[in-house]
Amino acid sequence: MQFAAAHAHPNIAFIKYWGNCEAEARIAANGSISMNLAGLYSRTSVEFDSALRVDELVLQDEPGKGDTLERVSAFLDIVRQLSNTNTHARVESENNFPMGAGIASSASAFAALAVAASHAAGLDLTEKQLSQLARQGSGSACRSIPSGFVEWQISECEADSAAVSIAPPEHWPLVDHIAIVNQEHKLVGSTAGHDLAHTSILQNSRVADAPRRLEICRRAILQRDFESLAEIIELDCNLMHAVMMTSNPRLLYWEPTTLAVMERVKAWRAEGFLAAYTIDAGPNVHVICEASHQALIKERLGGIFGVAQVITAHPGGGAELLSEMSPN
Ligand code: DP6
Repeated sequence: MQFAAAHAHPNIAFIKYWGNCEAEARIAANGSISMNLAGLYSRTSVEFDSALRVDELVLQDEPGKGDTLERVSAFLDIVRQLSNTNTHARVESENNFPMGAGIASSASAFAALAVAASHAAGLDLTEKQLSQLARQGSGSACRSIPSGFVEWQISECEADSAAVSIAPPEHWPLVDHIAIVNQEHKLVGSTAGHDLAHTSILQNSRVADAPRRLEICRRAILQRDFESLAEIIELDCNLMHAVMMTSNPRLLYWEPTTLAVMERVKAWRAEGFLAAYTIDAGPNVHVICEASHQALIKERLGGIFGVAQVITAHPGGGAELLSEMSPN
């Protein structure tokens, strides 16, 4: 019996991953850049136990079943293959933020699971190997392994694609105010959405232009150039949602309040406030701000009709092991 526990933060993508060139191994069609979100986390423990006949999952104190359990079990199969074992495991996981509504819970969940499961299985993986492993559970999870501002690099659809840190969390004290518009579980999850991306005639252009947007975003982060960051993350978000809206069937995640927040953020920036929006596969809006303007932006966001709650996060570190026990 071997046990390990780990925690990882979710991340918000500045340049988005949408669509795969190889779906099963989750190799993205384009590179992406994100920021880990301190204050939010998934905490996961894994115990390999030869007495178990199947894998067991407890998620937020409830038994995990169906597709969720299958996805975790398929991920554990990869770890079992790497460590040459066929022992089943008991996985317990909790998040301190709402799941399924545009804060990528699968990213922090699979990053924490990759660290905990690999250690519990006796593997000693490098950061790059952990990122590759986490990617196979959820693409964006590869970006929750390294610390701070992170780039998932893609070239030629290579199976070893992984994410690397491009700047530590303390490099730029940005703030992410997440305007919660709807906490319901989204109807079409990211995995099904990625499979539809190629049905949009806009996807090829979005992917072809990605190296240019990545370069602008990377440079804006390194130079702490908020104006450039704001323009490129809003463009990239709009491009991804344009692909979603024009795929077949169409995916429309925005709600009236989503659009209201987007418009207000644009207007605030015109007034001189350093704030920009980005939205993942859900209706909630991540409003990225410079620390100097964050209090006022939070107050204004809270006052928009339809915004139920504002969750605040800061640049965060990478996935970490919490504890380890030796086998019996
Ligand atoms: C819109 O990583 O959640 O948040 O690999 O199927 O788990 P799976 O997809 P996932 O996709 C994230 C999509 C996104 C953009 C992003 O985070 O880059």
